[in-house]
Amino acid sequence: MGISFPPSPATLPSLLLLSLLATTVSSSDYTTLVYKGCADQKFQDPTGVYSQNLKALFKTLVSQSSAAKFNKTTSGEAQSAITGLFQCRGDLSNDDCNDCVSKIPDLSRKLCDSTIAARVQLTGCYMRYEVSGFNQVSGTELLYKVCGSIRASGAGFEDRLGSALGEVEKGVAGGGNGFYTGSYESVFVLGQCEGDLGSGDCVDCVKSAVDRAKSDCGTSISGQVYLQMCYISYTYYPNGVPSKSPSGGGTKGNAQKTVAIVVGVLAGFGLGIACIMVLKSACKKREGK
Ligand SMILES: *[C@@H]1O[C@H](CO)[C@@H](O)[C@H](O)[C@H]1NC(C)=O
Repeated sequence: MGISFPPSPATLPSLLLLSLLATTVSSSDYTTLVYKGCADQKFQDPTGVYSQNLKALFKTLVSQSSAAKFNKTTSGEAQSAITGLFQCRGDLSNDDCNDCVSKIPDLSRKLCDSTIAARVQLTGCYMRYEVSGFNQVSGTELLYKVCGSIRASGAGFEDRLGSALGEVEKGVAGGGNGFYTGSYESVFVLGQCEGDLGSGDCVDCVKSAVDRAKSDCGTSISGQVYLQMCYISYTYYPNGVPSKSPSGGGTKGNAQKTVAIVVGVLAGFGLGIACIMVLKSACKKREGK
């Protein structure tokens, strides 16, 4: 009697992992910190004008986040002007977007203090700002990536992943307003572009992220790639992407939960974390003047 077939080696640890995490991550958790990027230079602020402008910028962005998923604005004038933006994940409601973005100013102050540029990425939203004249990095610059430590052993996984990620490229183009989430043969995928990217630029950005995910994370059962102006994530569920949540969160809730779990996996068990401070060289140049 008993179990006649041992579960496949790829299935067992991942199911264990997911069930452990599902109990510790709530479905409405979209405010978990994913990463931060802080410039290595602080503003010279004897008059306090930069701090004032940054405070005003944060206030405006937080208030706009109750009405839209993206906005970009500038506070202050000339040399002391600071430009910033926020982007919420496309499946968040206005209230959740506002709730998410509201967490960032304090975090940014705590994590980056008064650096001349900063970016804080939470599960459901991000914000970034830079002072006037700061050298902008390219939209497809890699900021952060994580490849799950569990690898798929079955043949054909990479083809399946390729097709699933192909859906993101198609999806962000197709009237999705720069956001796509879906699943393809048990692979949950998500893509999000920054709000002012045109449809063509969004697709190009997502393509870069997909190439990166395939080359760097290709056999991991989960991965996330954050570029300057878009990000993607995927998770393979050997028993199918969960479609019903016990808390009855509906489709939207499920997507959030899945995303939250992905981050839980990465935070708890994350190996292969790479954080690249792209702002560094730009800061060096300014210092050299
Ligand atoms: C940002 O919000 C302001 C005020 O609500 C609005 O006038 C403006 O069009 C928005 N900008 C973008 C890029 O959405």
